[in-house]
Amino acid sequence: MKKTVSVIGLGNRGTEYMGFLKAFHSSRVAICALCDLRQQALDDIAPKYAVPKARQFLCAEDFFAQGVLSDALIITTQDASHYEITKQALLTGYKLILLEKPISGVRQEYLELRDLARENGALLIICHVLRYSNYYSKIKQIISSGQIGDLVSINHTENVGYFHFAHSFVRGNWRDERTSMPSILAKCCHDIDLIAWFMDAPCESVSSVGSLRYFCKEHAPDGAAPTCMGGCKAKKSCPYDAEQLYIKDPFYKAKFIKYMRRTLTGKTRSRKRDVEAALRTGDYGKCVFLNDNNVCDNQFVTMTFRNGASAVLQMNGFSDKMFRECHIVGTKGELVGYGNKLTLHIFGGKSERIRTGFIPSGHVEGDLRLIAGFVRLLCGETTDLTDVTTIDATVISHDIALAAEESRKRGGAPVALPD
Ligand SMILES: NC(=O)c1ccc[n+]([C@@H]2O[C@H](COP(=O)([O-])OP(=O)(O)OC[C@H]3O[C@@H](n4cnc5c(N)ncnc54)[C@H](O)[C@@H]3O)[C@@H](O)[C@H]2O)c1
Repeated sequence: MKKTVSVIGLGNRGTEYMGFLKAFHSSRVAICALCDLRQQALDDIAPKYAVPKARQFLCAEDFFAQGVLSDALIITTQDASHYEITKQALLTGYKLILLEKPISGVRQEYLELRDLARENGALLIICHVLRYSNYYSKIKQIISSGQIGDLVSINHTENVGYFHFAHSFVRGNWRDERTSMPSILAKCCHDIDLIAWFMDAPCESVSSVGSLRYFCKEHAPDGAAPTCMGGCKAKKSCPYDAEQLYIKDPFYKAKFIKYMRRTLTGKTRSRKRDVEAALRTGDYGKCVFLNDNNVCDNQFVTMTFRNGASAVLQMNGFSDKMFRECHIVGTKGELVGYGNKLTLHIFGGKSERIRTGFIPSGHVEGDLRLIAGFVRLLCGETTDLTDVTTIDATVISHDIALAAEESRKRGGAPVALPD
């Protein structure tokens, strides 16, 4: 008999995971219940998975009132709702839960969820998807094999991409830390999770500097208007012009932006006129300098670990690239990662380009492999939790991010990590 999965949150992430379940695991797994605040999302998505009306819910309370409806639950709502919904899921009795990152921006809350999962014998997995990619698995493998000796330092840069940063952290859902999280947690809990995983030692101290350097009214060009399509006179020279980015840009950014059209319009399939309407009246058409955003657009975090090694993470919202770079230094060699290119240099030995699989490494591959691992656990094919991003394994990433934010607000003063 097929295992069953319910999904709460039918946006970009939820529908991607559902798509993978259907495309690659439908012989073993069926989606049986759906929940989203938007009726439109239920109407669009439920028929594709043959989910009956009785198993479609417009709010999490109604969903949980039915008791446990499936063998596993995927929670892919926005950040601020993760804590409440996951708590309800654990209290209702779900034993296998996949929760999108970040868990919560409040330590007490994510520790409570961790403890609740332990008490209820539930497995709560956080979608730190990058760990699952061949690329990062390979890095972990090389470090663990001792080829580069003992770790000395990690220098890791998350190039968010200037258009991606503007989309998500200036105009979009993650622009306001009161309704989302500080950007170092919202965007970089992945990166911090990777660093802590590679280090495999407790983090002792963190310090951080950063700011909202550019996306504020002091930098609005002459002639700027509250919306790009509302009479802005600086459009032609502004790389953030929403009309240019979302409608006219024919180049590589278009792929990212097209994918995000659903976010702009709320529609699964949108036409040019829907996008235009969304840009005239919605968040994504607003001037990046005159908006209500408050999260940092640049931040450095330094971390010291008990094994004597240290790490630096840079979150960079001003890059034409939209990929990560890393330099991992050991006593006997180093690894240099640039996008999906990985090179191993052994001191006094050879340099070698490391193959990381046939599919381009990165986010999507991580997503695919996360879901494959989730299905294996769901179907009882494995109980091995080594390298699985359980809440126990990922609390440290949130602790480091929150310590970084505290340090930043204290002018970069070192902050000791809680035990
Ligand atoms: N793992 C990753 O790499 C990664 C990447 C991007 C986003 N995320 C995280 O995934 C989550 C979802 O992001 P997204 O881009 O899919 O967002 P989204 O806005 O596209 O989708 C969220 C969906 O949840 C629904 N929703 C919101 N609150 C709800 C509630 N209380 N009950 C039921 N439905 C509710 C919304 O209507 C929407 O359809 C966020 O927490 C985000 O930070 C993770």
